[in-house]
Amino acid sequence: MSEEFYRIKRLPPYVIAEVNAMRHAARQSGRDIIDLGMGNPDHPPPKHVTDKLCEVAAKPGAHGYSQSKGIPGLRKAQANYYARRFGVELDPEREVVVTMGSKEGLSSMATAITAPGDVVLAPSPSYPIHTFGFIIAGATIRSVPTTPDEHYWKALDNAMAFTVPRPTVLVVNYPSNPTAETVDLAFYDRLVDWARENSVWVMSDLAYSELYYDGKPTRSILEVPGAKDVAVEFTSMSKTYSMAGWRMGFAVGNQKLIAALTRVKSYLDYGAFTPIQAAAVAALNGPQDVVEENRKRYQHRRDVMVESFGRAGWDIPVPPASMFAWAPIPEAFQDVGSLEFSKQLLERAGVAVAAGVGYGEEGEGYVRIAMVENEQRIRQAARNVKRFLSEGAAKPGETE
Ligand SMILES: Cc1ncc(COP(=O)(O)O)c(C=O)c1O
Repeated sequence: MSEEFYRIKRLPPYVIAEVNAMRHAARQSGRDIIDLGMGNPDHPPPKHVTDKLCEVAAKPGAHGYSQSKGIPGLRKAQANYYARRFGVELDPEREVVVTMGSKEGLSSMATAITAPGDVVLAPSPSYPIHTFGFIIAGATIRSVPTTPDEHYWKALDNAMAFTVPRPTVLVVNYPSNPTAETVDLAFYDRLVDWARENSVWVMSDLAYSELYYDGKPTRSILEVPGAKDVAVEFTSMSKTYSMAGWRMGFAVGNQKLIAALTRVKSYLDYGAFTPIQAAAVAALNGPQDVVEENRKRYQHRRDVMVESFGRAGWDIPVPPASMFAWAPIPEAFQDVGSLEFSKQLLERAGVAVAAGVGYGEEGEGYVRIAMVENEQRIRQAARNVKRFLSEGAAKPGETE
């Protein structure tokens, strides 16, 4: 009975949980912590969306089991979104499934299509479900870079040439969490050709579809003619409409993959609460000015962060999209590593960030800073950072 369970053994302790526990303890002791750690939107969803939720929840007939693959009106609303935003036609019956957040969609897809021992290509650093969804399903991960340059294509080709068994699935995520890197349509064009030539399924995570800046809209892999032959794409209402707690997302694209996901979900769940699905329809079909306002808010925070942290002595590359900055650890702290740096930043500057190592080996040397506090708090964080940097690094264990 003392043996560890097969899957649990494959799940390392959640690195970020350590800093989270410290942040919680600091707050409990009455300290003001500026929390730029988790990508949790700080704004409420639009009022017409919460109104719709309440209206439908008040109906006696709305409380039974819903439909696992999502109510028809919601699948249609998602198809309409792809048509107006990307010019992509989708069949709401066979090419769209509603998921309980894109995280659930990715992990249920992994369950649906993975055989034990399959090799999956996933980015490093990455949002953890890109690797652990498949690890839980029994796969082995081979890491590929996130930066979409020639090294990336070389890494993909090497992976196909030198891995036995040959990889079956490739995960891509642009705008990337955590690196905020983006790609253009030419990248997806080449990727679709590559996937077809190598008989690899592509899972594209487009959770930050609407958080792009400087007037450069994100692209969808499904814009490439023939992409549906090899790809599915996951989107989310969490960041676009600030509905993270609602657990509402979608998978769209290849019919075989969508059918597999729908089948597994039909065994696992009864779908999201119907009022939530009805309110999600209201969000997708209603006025979209809130999406633009959201985008402007994050872009302004980004500009404030890059400028004020830069003046504090910490140069942060300007993220072109997402709600994160991916910041190299300041020179004086490079030896201590991202986890220890994050702890010192929390203890000594009252600023919580996410240690890069929590996103995989290649994340070491960086921290991820989420733009989830207002301008004033970001400026306060920069002042604290300035003081902290001027004091220099403490030795590990020297923090209070
Ligand atoms: C890249 C990426 N994919 C998926 C998710 C999960 O989103 P959801 O709330 O739709 O499950 C996140 C959340 O932060 C994310 O950053």
